[in-house]
Amino acid sequence: MNSGFSFRNRLVLAFWAVLFLALLGPALYFGHRIKSEVREEAVQEVARQLRALDWTLGHAGGARDLRWLDATIKGLAARLDMRITYIADGGQVLADSAFSLDRVGELENHAARPEVLEARRAPMGASLRYSASVGGELIYAARSTSGYGRVPPGVLRIAKPFTRVTALVDRAGGHLLAVLAASFLVAAILVALVIKTMTDGVRGMVKVAMDIGEGGLDKRITTVPGREFAPLVKAFNGMAERIQANIATITRQKSESEAILNGMRAGVMVLNAEGRIVRTNPALEEMFPAAPAYVGKTPLEATLEPELQQACEEVLKNGQEGLFSQRRVQLRSDSDRHYEVSLVPVPGEGFAGAIVVFHDISEIKRLANVRRDFVANVSHELRTPLTSIKGYAETMLDSGEQFSGNARSFLEVIRKNADHMDRMLDDLLQLSRIESGKARMSLEPMDAANAFRSAEKGLAALAAERGVAVVGDFPAQRPKVLADFDQLVQVFRNLLENAVKYAPQGRGRVEVRAEVRGDELVVAVDDNGPGIAPEHLDRVFERFYRVDKGARGRPAGTGLGLAICRHILKNHNGSIRARSPVPGRDGGTRFEFSLPLARASADQTKAT
Ligand SMILES: Nc1ncnc2c1ncn2[C@@H]1O[C@H](COP(=O)(O)OP(=O)(O)OP(=O)(O)O)[C@@H](O)[C@H]1O
Ligand SMILES: [Mg+2]
Repeated sequence: MNSGFSFRNRLVLAFWAVLFLALLGPALYFGHRIKSEVREEAVQEVARQLRALDWTLGHAGGARDLRWLDATIKGLAARLDMRITYIADGGQVLADSAFSLDRVGELENHAARPEVLEARRAPMGASLRYSASVGGELIYAARSTSGYGRVPPGVLRIAKPFTRVTALVDRAGGHLLAVLAASFLVAAILVALVIKTMTDGVRGMVKVAMDIGEGGLDKRITTVPGREFAPLVKAFNGMAERIQANIATITRQKSESEAILNGMRAGVMVLNAEGRIVRTNPALEEMFPAAPAYVGKTPLEATLEPELQQACEEVLKNGQEGLFSQRRVQLRSDSDRHYEVSLVPVPGEGFAGAIVVFHDISEIKRLANVRRDFVANVSHELRTPLTSIKGYAETMLDSGEQFSGNARSFLEVIRKNADHMDRMLDDLLQLSRIESGKARMSLEPMDAANAFRSAEKGLAALAAERGVAVVGDFPAQRPKVLADFDQLVQVFRNLLENAVKYAPQGRGRVEVRAEVRGDELVVAVDDNGPGIAPEHLDRVFERFYRVDKGARGRPAGTGLGLAICRHILKNHNGSIRARSPVPGRDGGTRFEFSLPLARASADQTKAT
């Protein structure tokens, strides 16, 4: 950020340049002008004196020969304080006020002197030059004359020292310089003061800005170096205010999330965009005592769970591509605890990472097991008394005895309900066996149409009784599914039984259609019954859930059939869902389930 000259130096330089130009320039110019005008005036003055001298000599009385000339000029020169020379046309000096007449012959030829040369061409010649013999500047003026009496024509020349005039000018120049120096000094002091106040103001601003940068967020600029800086100061103070407010918000949010993390019962792992753990919370440390050492590691290194690692990578990868995908994974720790792990990407500017939340579901699992075992035990215990109730009722009905009054019909009711209870216990036992995974399952490739036909046969009597037609449509090139035959028959039986039960009496129609979709076989069981309201569609798969509790005119159910179907399909890596009305129609219900095809699920066989 070094930008050469400092602001202050720049100002100083500019001021000096301006001062120099404004003061020294005119001073030098006028000094020069005055000097040249003074010279001009001095030369004019000498020329005037020369004219007067020429006239005086022309009109003087006397012998008017060389000796007379010599004596006269010596007299005049002494009085006029000048040197007078008379030079013949050839250049040789005839008389000179500074030399005796007998020595002028020794003087060098003067023909080449500038003023003499000029005097020959023009009426008057003048020259100002340095004379080594005098040791200063001399003004020379020369004039051609036609001679005086017996003095031959020549050039009359006078010389006057210029030194006095120059001394005068120089003294004036000295004064000028002194004044200049004084003005310079005063200006310099003023400049320094002005610059100091300016730079002090700016420096104050810079200092406050630096203080704020170093964390002094409550600092504000109070001195404004000039009106031009007011918007800057305002903007800067506003910025500092906002930064302070933002930092306060961030700090508060940070302590809030800190408190949330610390107070949570769920364990939390925060991952950065590279998939490394950046922090953990106390609850996680309770679940995994080594958790504090996890920081910097990958979830796989920390938990040794490849499935979790894979899910994390997936969530992070989607997050990087801007997709928001959540994942759930179930884990079972060494200490036999069960965790449900939710993975959520952290969105934001740039990609931040992901949050991994561990919920301890061991208790839920345990309770589910307790309930399942309880149901299984109760069902089992009820079996024996129920068998004897059923057995005695049947024996009495079959005994051929004549019962008085309503006794026979009461016995019929007892038998019917005992039958129903028996079926219910069957279902309950089966459900808990399937749920616990204790039900024996032998998966093998098979044709689903066979299972359908077997179930259809079992329900033919009920269908005929209710006047419901059941039709099946399976692809000609039957792909094999991987399933347990008995359980698949059970799925078909439960679905067909429901469909037949709910289809309208006399004109009911149940259609079963199967098709291959991807590596699954999708089977749809459609009926033209009353349908299921949307709010019940998902719930009918819950155990004991019935939409219309024991509607009149239909055999009462227990609400376990669909729950069994769902569990069987889940164990087969398949799925089931209900749709109502049947797509493309205005009523009825469709139960649609999918099963993996045998070829696609070769590897799943080993897994199950
Ligand atoms: N095809 C259907 N049309 C309309 N409602 C249905 C149909 N199939 C099931 N349901 C509704 O879903 C509920 C649950 O069905 P589920 O088969 O689980 O129990 P259930 O048939 O009542 O008794 P269970 O099958 O144990 O003898 C039914 O009571 C009924 O309300
Ligand atoms: Mg049913």
